[in-house]
Amino acid sequence: MNPGTPENVTNNHYQTSAGGHFDPENSAPPLLQVQGLAHRYALPRTRLWGPRPQLTALEDVHLSLHAGRSLGIVGASGSGKSTLARLVMALEPPSSGRVLWAGQDPRQMGAAELRRARRHIQMVFQDPFGALDPRQRIARIVAEPLAAQGGASRAEQRRRAAEVLEQVGLATSALDQYPHEFSGGQRQRIAIARALITRPRVIVADEPVSALDVSVQAQVLNLMQQLARDFGVTYLLISHDLAVVHHLCDEVAVLHQGRIVEHGPPARLFRSPAHSYTRALVAALPLAPGAVQTHLS
Ligand SMILES: Nc1ncnc2c1ncn2[C@@H]1O[C@H](COP(=O)(O)OP(=O)(O)OP(=O)(O)O)[C@@H](O)[C@H]1O
Ligand SMILES: [Mg+2]
Repeated sequence: MNPGTPENVTNNHYQTSAGGHFDPENSAPPLLQVQGLAHRYALPRTRLWGPRPQLTALEDVHLSLHAGRSLGIVGASGSGKSTLARLVMALEPPSSGRVLWAGQDPRQMGAAELRRARRHIQMVFQDPFGALDPRQRIARIVAEPLAAQGGASRAEQRRRAAEVLEQVGLATSALDQYPHEFSGGQRQRIAIARALITRPRVIVADEPVSALDVSVQAQVLNLMQQLARDFGVTYLLISHDLAVVHHLCDEVAVLHQGRIVEHGPPARLFRSPAHSYTRALVAALPLAPGAVQTHLS
């Protein structure tokens, strides 16, 4: 398949996998593609002369992320979710397969081109406590991805940091404070502000609300939903919690032991999960599937 061409274009009529219709803005190439991705970790030798054992964390993963159609990845602990996020962000090279950002392989880019391309794809990490450097003021933390792009003066960085803090519902007085002065939910807002500052098209969020209380989870998810609407951000949202993904995503892929075992709109997965692992996920939800939407709103 030509990587620049969406696989489901036929006769000039474009249908997204969930049944959406042609939108010129959303046509080729997808914001993000994952093609035949596999990843193996080399483990320590168990015998002096033996081969190094390997752990297969991902195997033959294919995904596409189209503008405006957020995709959720759900899977149990150890299923390969964070590995997938790191490979998608080009923080690690895959063992095989490739990742394309708007049709381009970040691994083929030169350093300057890669830096510029990173503007369009930002990440929010799971742990709002560990992800923010405790020695830096919020202004510096939030502006970091912008500073890494080069070209913005200190004053401009501060102005933009204030702007994104407001967009996530925090006062600009936060600029001169330190991370320890904020609650978990506020820290996750700060992490989201940092991801927003370069005005990315894609945000990869790895378990963005797992460390938060359920009531705060709903606030952060609602904020993420609003940002998607206001700024056209598309999420690759990773979670072990089907309810979280259901809240924010148009499509869901279920990752089980490193492989995608099921893929489709969340409502369909809830109604008629095809794979035994998806059935187990749905059964494990604290509420009946129909109640999930309200559970987090
Ligand atoms: N650096 C590493 N070296 C060796 N094995 C690793 C490494 N990182 C992850 N793994 C293994 O790869 C598999 C997938 O790990 P990964 O962190 O991607 O899972 P996950 O789905 O994000 O889990 P969790 O929900 O607990 O965050 C696991 O078996 C894990 O032990
Ligand atoms: Mg993880």
